[in-house]
Amino acid sequence: MLDKLDQIKQDALDALASAQDEDALESWRVAYLGRSSAIMDVFKNMGGVPQEERGAVGRAANQVKQALEAAFTEKTVTLREVALQHSLSEERLDVTLPGRAIPRGRLHPTTQTLREIYRVFADMGFQIYLSREVETDEYNFQLLNFPLHHPAREMQDTFHIVSEEDRGDNPLLLRAHTSPGQIHAMREYAATDPDNPPPVRIILPGMCYRYEQVSARYESQFTQVEGLAVGHNITFSDLKGTLSDFARRIFGQEVRSRFRASHFPFTEPSAEMDIECFLCGGDGCSVCKDAGWLEILGCGMVHPIVLENGGYDPERYTGFAFGMGPERITMLRHRIEDIRYFWANDMRFLEQF
Ligand code: PHE
Repeated sequence: MLDKLDQIKQDALDALASAQDEDALESWRVAYLGRSSAIMDVFKNMGGVPQEERGAVGRAANQVKQALEAAFTEKTVTLREVALQHSLSEERLDVTLPGRAIPRGRLHPTTQTLREIYRVFADMGFQIYLSREVETDEYNFQLLNFPLHHPAREMQDTFHIVSEEDRGDNPLLLRAHTSPGQIHAMREYAATDPDNPPPVRIILPGMCYRYEQVSARYESQFTQVEGLAVGHNITFSDLKGTLSDFARRIFGQEVRSRFRASHFPFTEPSAEMDIECFLCGGDGCSVCKDAGWLEILGCGMVHPIVLENGGYDPERYTGFAFGMGPERITMLRHRIEDIRYFWANDMRFLEQF
């Protein structure tokens, strides 16, 4: 019996030596260690072994089984190493090649300007108020003191939203400016304490839409940043101080600004602010069209009717408001000559910022 065990072991090891891949190895395992293998038969037939030999045979059989299992494990490891060596010598790996550059994302130029504007006004104590892009005629015009059918609406060619219900004199539209947010914000603030509404210091950034003939100067979609300050004893000099300081922080400490009388239905008096052309220093160049000045925003003291519509008593409160176009500011700072680049998604443009 012990001889037979020796023979089983020898046959198995011989067979193992010729297994050269994983499949052969698996077949070997089934044949020499599986349920119907010779060594397993020995265990199964232990009952037929004479009593006095059983101990020695059992021990020997166990040793053979363990030896075969160990040989199997060793062979498995060896085969894997061989396979690895093989693939390493086949593949070519040039460790001196430079690494692949990871493309860096960047912020859209308008976003960069917006963030600077936020920072400057945050330093002055203004909070950001986000208002809706889909508006009603009432908020976009009527509450801002544009009467129905008034020609002042011509300044803003409006996209109306076709709706099934007839909303009469209050159709839905895409906001043509961020000013309707003034009313939403004032009403929200005033609701917290209707008898003594709290002061307001906010900027309202966001997308606006106008039915423009698209050209180098006009886009049908653009951002605006509105500003609103309401409180007791706010005067036109607060407006001038705030906006001149803003201009110096954005365009440089030396830059001079001026205010020209203008008209908006929702402010009285109204003005436009120019800054001295920072390219020619006021001498006149192609960017400022020889004027020496660049217009950068519209502003004014909040009209009493607008304060009233927002829930602020115009006898007790005053305020100023302004509105600017971040694309225009970006164009001036970077001498971008066509506003259409902002929405064209041309990487050659975007990668420069
Ligand atoms: N809403 C005006 C525009 O779109 C800008 C503006 C805002 C002017 C606030 C005065 C005060 O042109």
